[in-house]
Amino acid sequence: MAIRMDGKAMAEKLRGQIREEAAALPRRPVLAVVLVGEDPASQVYVRNKEKDCVECGIQSQGYRLPAETTEQQLLDLIGTLNESAQVDGILVQLPLPKHISEKKIIHAIRPDKDVDAFHPFNVGKIVTGEDGFLPCTPAGIMELLKEYRIDIAGKECVVVGRSNIVGKPMALLLLREHGTVTICHSKTADLRAETLRADILVSAVGKRGTITGDMVKEGAVVIDVAMNRDEQGKLCGDCLYDEAAAKASYITPVPGGVGPMTRLILMKNTLRAARAHLEK
Ligand code: GUN
Repeated sequence: MAIRMDGKAMAEKLRGQIREEAAALPRRPVLAVVLVGEDPASQVYVRNKEKDCVECGIQSQGYRLPAETTEQQLLDLIGTLNESAQVDGILVQLPLPKHISEKKIIHAIRPDKDVDAFHPFNVGKIVTGEDGFLPCTPAGIMELLKEYRIDIAGKECVVVGRSNIVGKPMALLLLREHGTVTICHSKTADLRAETLRADILVSAVGKRGTITGDMVKEGAVVIDVAMNRDEQGKLCGDCLYDEAAAKASYITPVPGGVGPMTRLILMKNTLRAARAHLEK
């Protein structure tokens, strides 16, 4: 039976460190949190991020904009936040309403305030292995792997999902630690054949049942990034947990695995942004 990787406990432990480091700065770090529209999931995420800020001694500045907000209005707000000496980090919650180009908005955020690490400048640094902001979910997973002393070098790492937010940067961070990395996606010919080779299997698809027990190699480390709901409305991941846990050596639960670590990295990135601004 697999060891359950407790992201919640680890995030709580690290939160204390961030709070101490933030308190040692000449002023509190400031994160601008922008939400456009009323998507219920986004509202929950944003509320959680603001709660994390309070717990870490980071000041959050919330901007709730109506769904009818134009692209230009949002660009104007980002322009103001970019220029503000008071703001260290800018987070625009995705997805945005259809009439607003996410690409344009991401491009507009100043890279040194891009605590999500979505701007191509920061993505480029991940590709070349330069020091910069790391994307929250993949970086949180890397910290979990480190905490549980899971070696990556030379391991077969299979990432299921190729999103810009998780799948692609996850693959790059595993590669940076010398994993042998495969990215699978909706057109992968034989998903099971790929996942069965994985020493480290990361699933970031968003569909319950993507990973069944017969797709997990004996002793594999299974990281479940997804936040789905089952038929009863209960939170669950991509993996059928019991089946996957019966085969795995380590596994992240949903909830309480990757999610809390993702939230923590956002705080860490904001602290880092504040430090850099204060040093200027
Ligand atoms: N929507 C889903 N995940 C994320 C995230 O990590 N950052 C932002 N800004 N929006 C998201």
